Amino acid sequence: SAAEKGGFDWFMRKEIYEQPKAVADTLLGRHDENGRLTLDEVRISEEELRRIDKIIIIACGTASYAGLVAKYAIEHWTRIPCEVELASEFRYRDPIVGPTTLVVAISQSGETADTLMAIRHAREQRARVLAVCNTNGATIPRESDAVIYTHAGPEISVASTKGFLTQIVACYLLGLYLAQVRGTKFGDEIASTMAELAAMPDAIASVLEDMDPVLKLAADFAEERVVLFLGRHVGYPVALEGALKLKELAYIHAEGFAAGELKHGPIALIEDGLPVFVVIPPRGRDMLHDKVLSNLQEVRARGARTVVLAEADDDEVLPYADVLVPLPKVSTLLQPLLATVPLQMFACELATLKGHDVDQPRNLAKSVTVE
Ligand code: G6P
Repeated sequence: SAAEKGGFDWFMRKEIYEQPKAVADTLLGRHDENGRLTLDEVRISEEELRRIDKIIIIACGTASYAGLVAKYAIEHWTRIPCEVELASEFRYRDPIVGPTTLVVAISQSGETADTLMAIRHAREQRARVLAVCNTNGATIPRESDAVIYTHAGPEISVASTKGFLTQIVACYLLGLYLAQVRGTKFGDEIASTMAELAAMPDAIASVLEDMDPVLKLAADFAEERVVLFLGRHVGYPVALEGALKLKELAYIHAEGFAAGELKHGPIALIEDGLPVFVVIPPRGRDMLHDKVLSNLQEVRARGARTVVLAEADDDEVLPYADVLVPLPKVSTLLQPLLATVPLQMFACELATLKGHDVDQPRNLAKSVTVE
């Protein structure tokens, strides 16, 4: 009913708007009185965590894209090699796993069969398994050594939204905690990243206040058959997630590409009028912003209709943006928490305009409990 949906037309739209609170709830109570990170649910001893020499993140669907985002942060903060693998692939390829491997299973429902089978396999190889999960007492956290709950509240819509954002946040907490335990980052660096994370609920809320350009875009693009998404670094999994949402909800052929791979294939697809979303990294000390800016120029020069997600005051992108979706200023690693939101809304709105059941897309299930 409309009341259950909080006055929204779909659970998905309601859950998109719940993201500021969901992220705040993921962050709640993660400090002790001295400002140190405390993750009570990580029941693996600090000594064992110091011995970890490899992290493997396993997940399916949207959760796997949260894992891809997390890899950048976890390796950067902890200097522990971190792989991300689809749960359905991990189980059947004889992976190298042992007592000093930390397997992180990300699952909103905690019931996905492939992910469950993968952690069982990992535990047989004596790996430590930590679940990032939204559902209290679900099978995956019960069968893991440790768990970080995302506390996002129930997610009803089949397509994951607040699940995704809070999985990223929970993985970031894990990365910072490992950095603290292992001493790869100093307390003040951890504290400043935590402060940035604490500011994210307000930043996400401000993105949500300005959805008109995206809603209008959905109307303009309702008849499109193909949409491409480009991103680099953490913007790459954001591009993958934007494309997945369009496939799931609007049944549009959509692909996400690493912007740097453009000239190795995808650029051949660009033709006049093709819609291309480009996630532009924040301007910073690294070269990322300029690299993706030049990819934007390349697709625009070949006739693409560009939708550019960039910092609100990024004037350099303006000449190449048919539509600009402005984002608040944040550091690179946190940008996915903002850039994903308009892409979720775009897919939700486009599917609505096409008359699809947004909460229950054809052929999909909320939780895939068979292999
Ligand atoms: C299904 C859902 C997706 C979800 C995936 C993984 O495919 O439709 O939205 O991302 O399962 O689910 P999990 O509960 O393991 O995160």
